[in-house]
Amino acid sequence: MSIGVRVPATSANLGPGFDVLGLALGLYNEIVYEVADRVSVTVEGEGADRLDTGAGNIVARAALMVHEAVGRPFTGAAIHCVNRIPPARGLGSSAAAWVGGLVAANAALGTPLDRDAVLALACRAEGHPDNVAAALLGGLTVSCVSGERVVAVSLPVPADLGWVVLVPGIESSTREARAVLPDTVTRADAVFNLQRMGLLLAALASGRVDVLGVAMEDRLHQPQRLALFPWMEAVRRAALEAGALGCVLSGAGPALLAAVRGAAQPVVRAMEGALSLAGVAGRALPLPVDTDGATWNRRP
Ligand code: HSE
Repeated sequence: MSIGVRVPATSANLGPGFDVLGLALGLYNEIVYEVADRVSVTVEGEGADRLDTGAGNIVARAALMVHEAVGRPFTGAAIHCVNRIPPARGLGSSAAAWVGGLVAANAALGTPLDRDAVLALACRAEGHPDNVAAALLGGLTVSCVSGERVVAVSLPVPADLGWVVLVPGIESSTREARAVLPDTVTRADAVFNLQRMGLLLAALASGRVDVLGVAMEDRLHQPQRLALFPWMEAVRRAALEAGALGCVLSGAGPALLAAVRGAAQPVVRAMEGALSLAGVAGRALPLPVDTDGATWNRRP
């Protein structure tokens, strides 16, 4: 008997909600997991040429983590990954791998861990809760670390809002994109982001999408990350001129996320065009919001 798991891509931050907000998107990695007497991993799709195929693979490490958490011996697993989330772009590919491995191994053991326990393990592995909460729960998630616990709530997103993700051909590591951030911020910048994150949640809850332009501004990470992605401002401007309501770095980048009401194609073309003018290859995809989060089933 094997376990099939599907985990969505995620876009963290949405501008002001640094390490807090996550949005699950309709682009999925799939895992087939079967208990075995050693670890073996096969990968097709994104990252197939370079992902670890042994015990160092994140999905396998997540499986080990579950066994350690519940005090059961881990003999190994035959893991097959079908990856569609582009890696190292800020679209939650590592969060999907951690969550996928945790959910698969937990299911194979008869679900000894509840969802909160899985979320806490995923957050410990990733180091921040935003992507893993959205990958596990789906929708727009607000997450908060409280000691050992992670408290996360998934909110609905207005159905008439569309999302466009620009995926540049270049990659970036989250570690490096976090290393450019200062350890302390001014009170003015903290207040700037608090105001906008509150406004963003209020705008999405009430359907006041006309205020998203202001609500998606940020001072805690995007201005600093401009040094890594200098083309970001030109692409953002092009997206807004083409009708996007807001445009932000997706997680730690380099992907960008635009919110759109109405036709997505003009925004897709504008973002691709501005990126290409800056000399960077890439493609933009309109993606729906995923509302299911990680799902699993038993396979014969
Ligand atoms: N909140 C994290 C960051 C997300 O911006 O560094 C990383 O995907």
